[in-house]
Amino acid sequence: MGTTDMGGAELPRLTVIGTGYLGATHAVCMASLGYDVVGLDVDSKKIEKLQSGEVPFFEPGLPELLAKTLASGRLRFTTSYAEAAEHGDIHFVCVGTPQQPGSDACDLSYVDAAIRGLAVHLTRRSLVVGKSTVPVNTAARLAGLLRELAPAGEEVELAWNPEFLREGFAVDDTLRPDRLVFGVTSEWARERLAAAFRPILDLGTPVVVTDLATAELVKVAANSFLATKISYINAMAEVCEATGADVRDLAKALAYDDRIGGRFLQPGLGFGGGCLPKDIRAFAHRAEEIGVGQAVSFLREVDAINRRRRSRTIDLVRELLGGRLDGKKIACLGAAFKPNSDDIRDAPALDVARTMHGLGANVRVYDPAALDNARRAYPELRYGTSALDVARDADVVVLLTEWAEFREIQPSALAQVVKHTRIMDGRHALDAAVWRSAGWEYRALGCP
Ligand code: UDX
Repeated sequence: MGTTDMGGAELPRLTVIGTGYLGATHAVCMASLGYDVVGLDVDSKKIEKLQSGEVPFFEPGLPELLAKTLASGRLRFTTSYAEAAEHGDIHFVCVGTPQQPGSDACDLSYVDAAIRGLAVHLTRRSLVVGKSTVPVNTAARLAGLLRELAPAGEEVELAWNPEFLREGFAVDDTLRPDRLVFGVTSEWARERLAAAFRPILDLGTPVVVTDLATAELVKVAANSFLATKISYINAMAEVCEATGADVRDLAKALAYDDRIGGRFLQPGLGFGGGCLPKDIRAFAHRAEEIGVGQAVSFLREVDAINRRRRSRTIDLVRELLGGRLDGKKIACLGAAFKPNSDDIRDAPALDVARTMHGLGANVRVYDPAALDNARRAYPELRYGTSALDVARDADVVVLLTEWAEFREIQPSALAQVVKHTRIMDGRHALDAAVWRSAGWEYRALGCP
């Protein structure tokens, strides 16, 4: 079953269950590669938006590609599992695995619901492919659940294919990934996955074929490594602060060593987002459950270093203000967890803004893309329409997300609107010498 590509080979028909960040991007990209794709979500509002050509989140390049693929007729959306099961030869499960409230463990209820919802309609040989980030050994359990619930029984197989896409680069990361990981339990499943990624494999993309547990682990191991690298340089920033050294020069000097490399070695306010923080916590939690907690206990420290960056940022703002936050006007530049994103999940920027608000400061926030999300989540904060707008009469300006438009602000332009020329650069986004010579009192984490 399936359509035929230009070379005459059979293309499997695909479904994508869960059309959030990962799923919507995957569905659109696969359709752009020539596959017939049905995207499914239980949220009918999301489905209506996507079907009408609207991407429900900020991702450069995705709206254009959605329009193109919808017009090609190779992509449609549904809320019906029966329809998805009827359409697909290969089903990608892309639902979210958020942190459980009050625990470090990850919430698998969406993954379980997706597998159950789909399984009962699977009446023919098909492959279900998990892409969600899950605790190791989840896939083995889900494979059993699928076989038990699917009318096709043993004919339905499960594979795991972790996804490494970054927000802001999601389309490119999906179409031109560094590598593909195929976690499989049979040669048939490996062949099916190869058919599902044929155009990407034809680019020479490396593939690592593994068992299910290894595939699950690759994702959390990769994110743990990245988080550790960021916390490593931020730990060095703490040491720099205590010794008068400069973490920016330190990072630069380290980066020239190819074995270390400069990527993910940017010191500052630390990591946030929907992945890194919850993934390292869920990994530590899972490791403790299976009796190897000690092996990754350093991840607790990675998390702690990262959280300390937020409180240290507030300490420096307080120092700039002469020891008090209450009643002071503070301009916060940035709300998103990183630039080129409207995502505010575990955003360090908003955490800092909210804490300063809670300490009695008069906080105003501006972000180029994340204002609507921020307003919805934190209506108690005040928001403005531009960097200059929130900086009007401010006692201090705090740069929390390194958007290009903040990097480009002229010290003289900002000086015209603020009450006091004090700036806390939480992301090392500005040139300290330039701002100081323009008369600003400039502070940054890990710098003299
Ligand atoms: C991450 C992984 O990079 C990706 O492979 C995985 O699939 C999902 O999680 P993402 O959450 O989009 O992607 O963000 P990323 O670009 O990795 O940044 C994460 C956080 O780290 C951001 O808050 C960013 O500001 C921070 N960061 C990044 C630093 O503080 N310093 C750095 O050097 C790099």
